[in-house]
This record gives sequence, structure tokens and C-alpha cells, in this order.
Amino acid sequence: MAWNNVLLEKDGAVGILTVNRPKALNALNGDTLTEIALALDEIDKDDEIKVVILTGSGDKAFVAGADIVAMQTLSPMEAKGFALLGQQVFSKLEKFRKPVIAAINGFTLGGGCELAMSCDIRIATPKSLFGQPEVNLGVIPGFAGTQRLPRLVGKGRAKELIYSAVNINAEEAYRIGLVNKVVEEAQLMEEAKKMANKIASKGQIAVRLAKEAINEGMEMDLDKAMIHEADLFGLCFSTEEQREGMTAFIEKRPAKFTGK
Ligand code: CAA
Repeated sequence: MAWNNVLLEKDGAVGILTVNRPKALNALNGDTLTEIALALDEIDKDDEIKVVILTGSGDKAFVAGADIVAMQTLSPMEAKGFALLGQQVFSKLEKFRKPVIAAINGFTLGGGCELAMSCDIRIATPKSLFGQPEVNLGVIPGFAGTQRLPRLVGKGRAKELIYSAVNINAEEAYRIGLVNKVVEEAQLMEEAKKMANKIASKGQIAVRLAKEAINEGMEMDLDKAMIHEADLFGLCFSTEEQREGMTAFIEKRPAKFTGK
């Protein structure tokens, strides 16, 4: 399918979704957000794709934020609608049944940082720059940055970053747990694909249930979250993957997972 603001390619078991507005540093307008959601629907239907890499076009930015030109003249209700659209698309990404790795190069600001935080894993380069600069524009983060940033880096650090609108480099982002890994720019896609293929080689139902256990469990109290984990653990025993994984271990051979 052809979209105007995103690209979707396939490399074996890996789907590569690229936000493609390089002239605007991949800023997110309504159409781009909608197209990200439509592309996720396509990826969902494609059984060959097991893991997704999300990246930005060009060598300057992952995503430099929500589109300020598109937002400038919004009414309060229109602005609320725009925030809800971004939140819905990012929640869809966060809950997406296939793991999503953000391959981040360059500016990752505002809505761009919020987009990256909706992914499961973030890989950055020394050129990546992170921040929530919304208060510079007289607004607050609107695509769930006030919620996902404290959940990832803690309340105190999130407040400092959001209140002062300071940008941080990849080294600092790694130090505070905002990114998983920092690799050289030339190695970014290779590293992201290496990680994606490693995940794609595992039991895919187990990976999906682990994602569900982590995401949903983090929003519950510990006792309920552990019961939920035990339920999902039990569910694994209804899959061929569990039988194959354990049999292969006992037979001292690599497991051949079929996704069933
Ligand atoms: N929205 C719309 N256009 C943007 C944009 C954005 N967020 N970020 C960059 N662009 C556009 C610029 O207007 C410019 O377009 P023109 O060539 O037509 O003038 C083009 O991209 C290149 O940008 P610059 O010339 O500014 O490039 P630079 O290297 O000098 O600076 C930058 C790069 C520091 C990232 C700077 O572009 C910048 O500060 N961008 C805005 C970052 C920002 O504030 N993001 C948060 C947005 S608000 C938000 O995201 C709210 C939310 O949570 C929902």
C-alpha cells in the first residue's frame, strides 16, 4: 500500500516502518499519525513479519516532534482531538502484538521522544538528541510524554526534563534508562536488525505474552500482576512452541518454532 508520510519495507522476518517527512524532520501531523496506524494494520496482517523496526527518514532526525505548523492555529477542542489521536496511535504501537524496536538517529524531540517511548526497545547513536521541549512552545507534552517518561526514567528526572525543556544526548539517555543501547551511526540499522532477528528466532507467542505480562503488569499492583503472569505462563502450555521448546532442550537440539 502507498502512503505519503510513511514507508514500509520488509527484510525477512523484520518489517521496517519509516516516518518519511525528512524536509520537516519527520514531524508528526495528523496524516502521518493516521498512516502509522494504517501501516501497523498491514504489518499485523503479514505473518512473515515477526518484529518491527521503527525509524525516521534522513540522517538528521528520528522525529522532531508533533508538527508545530499544523498545531499553531488549533482551537482547544481541536488540540485535544490531536492529542487523543497521537495517544491512540502510540497506545496501538505500545500494545502491538509484534515487538517494536526504535532505531533512533538525530533529533528525537517532543512527539518524537513520545513515539520512541511507545516502542519496546530503543537503540540510539551518538548523534541522537532527546527532549520534551513543549514548554518552550507554551504547551505540555500531549502524546503521553507526561505519563511514559516518568514510567521509564522516574518522576524526578521526567519532571526536570519536561519543566526545563533541556535536551539530553544519547550517553545521558542511556545513563537514565531512556535508551537500551548506543551504537555508531553506521551500525544503527545493522544492530537493530540483529536484535530484531534474534527476537524473531524465539517462540513468538511467548514473546507476545511476555510483552503483555510486562505492559499490563506494570499498570497493576504486584499481587494482581503476578497472578496475571501465572495465567499467561499457563497459557504458554497450550502452544506447540512450549512443547517444541522444551522437547528440543531435552533432545539437545535447537528449537524450531512455528508461531503456533
Ligand atoms: N514541526 C514542524 N516543522 C518542523 C518541526 C516540527 N516539530 N521541527 C522541524 N521542523 C521543520 C522546520 O520548520 C524546518 O522547515 P523549513 O525548512 O520549511 O523552515 C525544517 O523542519 C528543518 O528544521 P530547522 O531548520 O529548524 O533545522 P535545525 O537543524 O536548525 O533545527 C531542531 C532542528 C532543533 C530540531 C528544530 O527544528 C526544532 O527545534 N524543532 C522543533 C522541536 C520541538 O519543539 N518539538 C516539539 C514539538 S511540540 C510536541 O511534540 C507536542 C506534543 O507532545 C504532542
